[in-house]
Amino acid sequence: MQLETKRLILREPKIKDWKDIVEGIGDYDVAKMMVSVPYPYAKKDALWFIKLKIKELKKKEPNAYLFFIELKSEKKVIGAIEVFKIDRFHGTGETGSWINKKYWRNGYITEAKIALNDFAFNKIKLRRLDSPIFKDNIASNATQIKMGYVLEGVMRKVHRSKATGKIHDINMYGLLKEDWKKKRISLIKE
Ligand SMILES: CC(C)(COP(=O)(O)OP(=O)(O)OC[C@H]1O[C@@H](n2cnc3c(N)ncnc32)[C@H](O)[C@@H]1OP(=O)(O)O)[C@@H](O)C(=O)NCCC(=O)NCCS
Repeated sequence: MQLETKRLILREPKIKDWKDIVEGIGDYDVAKMMVSVPYPYAKKDALWFIKLKIKELKKKEPNAYLFFIELKSEKKVIGAIEVFKIDRFHGTGETGSWINKKYWRNGYITEAKIALNDFAFNKIKLRRLDSPIFKDNIASNATQIKMGYVLEGVMRKVHRSKATGKIHDINMYGLLKEDWKKKRISLIKE
């Protein structure tokens, strides 16, 4: 399974990517905003994660589709994006993502999310995506709002970051397929 955008290839994880993953997610500023990323992050952590995700993708009906985000111009993995906790009966799934800090604020996650949302709604036929974000994660909250997600509520002291041990309030965002159809048009025009 591979998705392509102007500057990016969203593709399946490969063992050889471990160095790029350690570089990207091993950065404290990335790890501290994630729930289950250890810090410091070692080669063995990356290999365990990559093998787990390759195994999941081999299933007939995966519960999670993880894509590594490869920057075409550098042939380097600069991030990852995932739709997971897929429930085909309810038509729902959750999304998560990160970008290597060196590549922040270039519109890469916006570009990747457009492709992922299209994939989730049109290929997996989901009708709703959930996105729980630490309340104090300024960049990720901004990203959800830009993509048309609606803030539906706040859950207090619900998630702990593995990297920091800190407990966070969570902003709960939701995106419906019909909202995405409208939002997509304005995002593509930008
Ligand atoms: C959140 C993250 C993925 C954003 O990636 P990115 O490629 O830098 O995002 P983009 O360049 O596509 O920006 C998307 C929008 O968010 C806004 N944004 C991004 N970083 C921001 C920041 N630090 N402060 C305020 N707004 C920010 C951008 O301005 C942009 O909106 P605009 O185009 O209207 O200006 C990245 O900051 C990251 O990896 N953070 C650490 C891990 C993380 O938080 N993951 C999500 C956890 S659920």
